[in-house]
Amino acid sequence: MKFYDNITERLEQLTDHDRLRSLKNTAGEWRLNLSSNDYIGAAASDVWQREFYQSVNNSELSDNFKLTSSSSRLLTGNHPGYRQLEADLSLLYDGREALVFNSGYHANVGILPAISNPKDLILSDKLNHASIIDGLRLSDAKFKRYHHCDYDQLEQLLASNVADYRQIFIITESVFSMDGDIADLDRLVMLKKRYNAILIVDEAHAVGVFGKNGAGICEDCGVIDEIDIIIGTFGKALASLGAYAITNSELKKFLINKMRPLIFTTALPPVIVNWSSFILKKIIACRDERQHLQQLGQLCRDELTKRGIDTRGTSHIIPIIIGDDKKSVVLAEKLRNEGFLVFPIRPPTVPPNSSRLRLSLHAGINEHDLEEFIDCLCNLIG
Ligand SMILES: Cc1ncc(COP(=O)(O)O)c(C=O)c1O
Repeated sequence: MKFYDNITERLEQLTDHDRLRSLKNTAGEWRLNLSSNDYIGAAASDVWQREFYQSVNNSELSDNFKLTSSSSRLLTGNHPGYRQLEADLSLLYDGREALVFNSGYHANVGILPAISNPKDLILSDKLNHASIIDGLRLSDAKFKRYHHCDYDQLEQLLASNVADYRQIFIITESVFSMDGDIADLDRLVMLKKRYNAILIVDEAHAVGVFGKNGAGICEDCGVIDEIDIIIGTFGKALASLGAYAITNSELKKFLINKMRPLIFTTALPPVIVNWSSFILKKIIACRDERQHLQQLGQLCRDELTKRGIDTRGTSHIIPIIIGDDKKSVVLAEKLRNEGFLVFPIRPPTVPPNSSRLRLSLHAGINEHDLEEFIDCLCNLIG
């Protein structure tokens, strides 16, 4: 089949199955935005952005605020903002080493291929994010996916494979992006120690939200020092762009030498890196917002359950499982018409027959807003 005929046919198939994605314009006045990853409300806050831009205006347009770095970090792009940001991160994570990347996607497609080889095995949670799956595919190691949060199965896999591989890696998200449930990091640390595995934890949806200082679930569980590589992103609660790994100095040095998405791409612009440093300090101090968000999540789940609506998880991310693709698309559309910004999440992002609305709560929501939304949802579901 000719290339363009094939493209047309595949687009038609997606349309027929209600799975065609499109880029929507979401600008406008919403009663409630339940779809952003701005969990603490930092991106929505004019105050902090104004304060940051004020500091730009007050300084001569120094190198710190340039809009491009024009080069890779390994060449001339490693501007002083990086050293500051990595020092700030190191302080947050008990003095461990930090390495900043262009995004969480770059981190996840780069780290596993850099550190693993064909004699290794990677064990990955079945519901890990697409960027982790792409990292598995790019890696030379063998990989197996264990059932979601099934640590008995994980232990069986560790026990039955440990003798056959140079090294086993375990990779998991902490707060799962589509289900809102939380990995058991204590158990994972125990398993990692028992089987001499390397543990990698992606805290993309936990940074800023969990832990006294917002460092994530690893801080909540007191295991910052026990995880070989902690990954965090700036694009969600931290209201910026970029990502980081928290690790030891040897692994940091190795990644700088071997991680292709760090080496072969233009570094982040200085203005972004400096904004990340600025906003990180603000988010660390957002203890009340973190507490409020936990309470909101609990309230929302309790209320939905009381009204007979199926939810999952224990965090600020709340999936409402609809099952059918078309029904979730239609319901999300109706909610948007009522002023609630909600999107359907369909396969392949989630497993077949588990299409859902994904609510991501943020600290700017109050209980009244939430009740209004739940009333509207219940009326639409009928
Ligand atoms: C678990 C997880 N890791 C990584 C990423 C990618 O992060 P970024 O948006 O910084 O590329 C995402 C994005 O949604 C994610 O959910």
